[in-house]
Amino acid sequence: MSQGKRVGIVGAGNVGATVAYSLAMLGSCHEIILRDNKMDVAKGKALDMSQAASAVRSHTVVSVAEEMSDLVDCDVVVVTAGSPRLPGMSRDDLLMINAKITKEVIQGIAKYSPNAIVIMVSNPLDAMTYVALKESGFDRSRVIGMAGILDSSRMAAFIQEKLGYGGGQIRASVMGGHGDDMVPLPRYSTVAGVPLSDVLTQDEIDEIVDRTRHGGAEIVGYLKTGSAYYAPAKSTAIMVDAILKDTKQIHPCAVCLDGEYGYNDVVSGVPVMLGAKGAEKIIEVTLDEKEKAMFAQSCASVQTLIDTLNKNNFFEGN
Ligand code: 2OP
Repeated sequence: MSQGKRVGIVGAGNVGATVAYSLAMLGSCHEIILRDNKMDVAKGKALDMSQAASAVRSHTVVSVAEEMSDLVDCDVVVVTAGSPRLPGMSRDDLLMINAKITKEVIQGIAKYSPNAIVIMVSNPLDAMTYVALKESGFDRSRVIGMAGILDSSRMAAFIQEKLGYGGGQIRASVMGGHGDDMVPLPRYSTVAGVPLSDVLTQDEIDEIVDRTRHGGAEIVGYLKTGSAYYAPAKSTAIMVDAILKDTKQIHPCAVCLDGEYGYNDVVSGVPVMLGAKGAEKIIEVTLDEKEKAMFAQSCASVQTLIDTLNKNNFFEGN
């Protein structure tokens, strides 16, 4: 058990609160501190979760930070804060709004929890991870985006649905950015070690790949007023738990590439070894020509967002 560990969560909406709840149920840490502008809502959720933790005999206490300065000396800080896309707003508008929110939050984290590992969850995920990295001045191993675990879990669930068996035994692999051109990798996906191509037809695999790419939108289509949060939150909690317990397990995460896969200064989803120091190692998977082309396309999409930030002089004055 990891006694004494402290996790900050910025944004106590559906995703942030569910991350907190998952961690409290796991007993991953001693203390979880929620930070949200809606203070009373955060206080109510914190009380409710502390009581749930008591119910399962977990030692985790959930509290609230009134200011960013109360988010002090955290081991891990999860950032879910951001605006949803509102009517009439372009993707670039959303990019600039959330980049500004991220900048402010990250400056607070760098000041009050300078040794923390930051996990970004806000969208557009890869660009916000890039902003967090630049604004924090942290080593890239300490700024990690959550998306790959979510996208791989979605792919695994779709495989299970298609097969009608194999639940809990499916390992699906998704790389690239968290966007429509993410890179699901059927070649590296298995059911109890059996390659996907031995149990599904190419058409079935193609259907699963396409559904995975639009997995977030499928849920928004049903919820109408919001997006998914159980799987995003659980995926985030898995990352926090791996870091706090120093498991050294491999998970797909968004990190800034520095020569890996032939890319520099762009964030993308790749297999990463998570441990107490964050993204301790980046694994380079062998990709075939088609997979390389898809990965290139995905990195180019993230680069376009970074270019938009630069064109708007977002990083000037740093
Ligand atoms: C999702 O994929 C919206 O990024 C969020 O569910």
